[in-house]
Amino acid sequence: MEVIQTINKLQQVLNEYRAAGKSVGLVPTMGALHDGHASLVDRSVKENDVTVVSIFLNPTQFNDKSDLERYPRTLEADCALLEQHGATIAFAPSVSEVYPEPDTRSFSYPPTDSVMEGAFRPGHFNGVCQIVSKLFCYTDPDRAYFGEKDYQQICVIRRMVDDLKFRVQIVPCPVIREESGLARSSRNTLLTDDERVLAAHIYRIMKQSLALVHEKTVQEVHDYVVSEIDAIDGLKVQYYSIVDGDTLADVQKWDDAAHVVGCITVYCGATPIRLIDHIRYI
Ligand code: PAJ
Repeated sequence: MEVIQTINKLQQVLNEYRAAGKSVGLVPTMGALHDGHASLVDRSVKENDVTVVSIFLNPTQFNDKSDLERYPRTLEADCALLEQHGATIAFAPSVSEVYPEPDTRSFSYPPTDSVMEGAFRPGHFNGVCQIVSKLFCYTDPDRAYFGEKDYQQICVIRRMVDDLKFRVQIVPCPVIREESGLARSSRNTLLTDDERVLAAHIYRIMKQSLALVHEKTVQEVHDYVVSEIDAIDGLKVQYYSIVDGDTLADVQKWDDAAHVVGCITVYCGATPIRLIDHIRYI
């Protein structure tokens, strides 16, 4: 595997692969890689001749600077994992390489980017669109792989791809979970052992609520999930939204949309750590 730090070098290497007729898969990440990321890499390696994994802790998507400061940085271990999983290129540029000038572009794809994470983390999806659009320009991938762990992120990126007519195919990949059901996340390493046990209740309770669909209204299922999670000492729901799985608009009834998903954000523990998850109802 080749580790590349500059855009020039990346484009030069990819031009050679393209000239030889090779297909390119892109897996954008912020590093601190785990099994969730590895599943995206495995899928790309299977479906493309060349797999580029970007490792870039993108400052423009962090509205909370302390979140950025404490974000785990593990480049060496990341490269070892990528090598093991058969990635072709690890692209790990510096901040000044990607943003030689401040990025003044603004993206707006409501309601996908204005609700939920968009409402509670102002500017977050603007930063995601800034970096992902740049990565698409640098690599011009045939396919790009994103985890459903960040369900809303995929919806926003789909809108951006449609808007800017990137020729890339977006490939959504299922959430990889720990045995307890907790969605794997780079931020999980910030949890204590006790907090990890607490955090596992989030998906357990959401899964329990699946049985209530049709028997209870959308509002009742919403209230059930929030009250069950809030009843656990150390967990506090920031929001739980039951929405159209494509547009992310709120639904009032179960048959308001072809797909209905519940998206949650919960504060866990003393620090606290902000955890997100989702479940598909319909
Ligand atoms: P990051 O949080 O590092 O995640 C990189 C990719 O891995 C995302 O597509 C995310 O959804 C996926 N992923 C993370 N945990 C997962 C899990 N448990 N199961 C399946 N997939 C998982 O998301 C970002 O970085 C950034 O916003 C990025 C798109 C790289 C732009 O900076």
